[in-house]
Amino acid sequence: MSDWSAIEALPSVKLVDLFEQDGERLSTLSLDVAGIHFDWSKTHLTREAIDAFAALAEAKDLAGKRDAMFGGEHVNVTEDRPVGHTAERGEGDPESVALARKFHERMRSLIDAIEGGALGEIRHVLHIGIGGSALGPHLLVDALGREDKRYDVAIVSNVDGVALEDAIKDFDPAATLLVVASKTFTTKETMLNAESALQWMTEHGVSDPYGKVIALTAAPDKAMEWGVDETRILPFGEGVGGRYSLWSSIGFPAAIALGWGAFEELLEGAAAMDRHFRLTPLAQNAPALAAFADLYYTQVRHAETRAPFAYDERLRLLPSYLQQLEMESNGKGVTVDGRPVGRPTAAITWGGVGTDAQHAVFQLLHQGTHLVPVEFIAVIEPGDTLAEDHHRQLLLNAFAQGAALMKGKQVEDPARSYSGDRPSSTLLLDVLDPRTLGALIAFYEHRVFVNGVLLDINSFDQFGVELGKEMAKAADHGGQSFDASTEDLIRRAGLD
Ligand code: F6P
Repeated sequence: MSDWSAIEALPSVKLVDLFEQDGERLSTLSLDVAGIHFDWSKTHLTREAIDAFAALAEAKDLAGKRDAMFGGEHVNVTEDRPVGHTAERGEGDPESVALARKFHERMRSLIDAIEGGALGEIRHVLHIGIGGSALGPHLLVDALGREDKRYDVAIVSNVDGVALEDAIKDFDPAATLLVVASKTFTTKETMLNAESALQWMTEHGVSDPYGKVIALTAAPDKAMEWGVDETRILPFGEGVGGRYSLWSSIGFPAAIALGWGAFEELLEGAAAMDRHFRLTPLAQNAPALAAFADLYYTQVRHAETRAPFAYDERLRLLPSYLQQLEMESNGKGVTVDGRPVGRPTAAITWGGVGTDAQHAVFQLLHQGTHLVPVEFIAVIEPGDTLAEDHHRQLLLNAFAQGAALMKGKQVEDPARSYSGDRPSSTLLLDVLDPRTLGALIAFYEHRVFVNGVLLDINSFDQFGVELGKEMAKAADHGGQSFDASTEDLIRRAGLD
């Protein structure tokens, strides 16, 4: 019997019937951790399913692999490295935790110095990075910096010059801190944007633009070679993966704009989720239960996508943050030992913001032919100060969508009927503050990890992004022939 056979044999029961059959369903499938209420009762998970997944987790040694990750072992086997993101929040092997603390201390001192005027007047922070070196800090600043932001922060990632031009158009170059964020300090887009930003400063009379550059990197030597003064380089450990790096110096724009206290609370919130993940039995373990639901839909019901919807404008960047986290981590085709996985891996993550999405894509969710597990993320305390009705409508819409997806509606006219039995989960935050956001992001990280372990894949490498980079480089350097279509496109755009 394959490890998955008990899961594949689970009976297929409608959601409304599951509620009928088990009066305890809500309490079995909901829990509260670190200021977040999780509700999976509107998914097809059952006690039986949880037991079957727990048995699979045991067969895959999830507990051992979890301990190995927290213990600093080289669980990123293809790159022969440990993974360091939990150590950034104080949960890891003592050596990595001590190093992360030292780096955080350095970041804090530099922020204090900047606030004390060491780099002259700074009003704007221009953060340049891409992928994990941009999405995390962008999410943090956008979600938490609506009020009380101490600097104007712009995060520029795209190599399209429109992104940089738009970001700097209202910035005073003399009062801008240029933050270059790149784990490798070799990423083409980031280096080009950084060069152009320096040029903009020079053209506007900034006499020593390099004097206003901060580098966030795991390759300090490369940053120095590029011209950044050693005192303004904020390193982080090689084991901290790009998409897991907002806890390290990559979180600099959030730490400077929101204040060091807020950054520490973010880390503490994540650490609370780390401890929950590490110490709680699987049947009450939030990341594990979420991953079990993910796997039930990808493996048993053949769902190809999943869709998180943030019912909170402040979390509008969360779906794209999760896209990288989930798809770059688990969008793999081979197992840790290089064999074909032989089953679907990560679902395609897409999503959006409610209520907007209801008027755009929810048609497909309610009546389309694809099964899409939906996730609602909402916050009880409003972010706005307008009449209460705004927030009331926002939350009621989120909850009603989940109910409608599950219940459906049968009428005589098929075009006006809803099949129902469409799954959703709900994550309800008490408040949106650094601590809760830290816990939320850490929850998603561990959920990715559980998915990866149960699928036998390494969630911590990303070789799939390399070939496209190589070919873009080859195209840039010329002298290499491509297929007829690509050659034609290069010629038509005048790039040959
Ligand atoms: O191309 C993918 C990637 O390597 C991501 O994993 C990473 O977050 C991003 O590029 C940026 O890399 P770096 O921080 O080294 O510039």
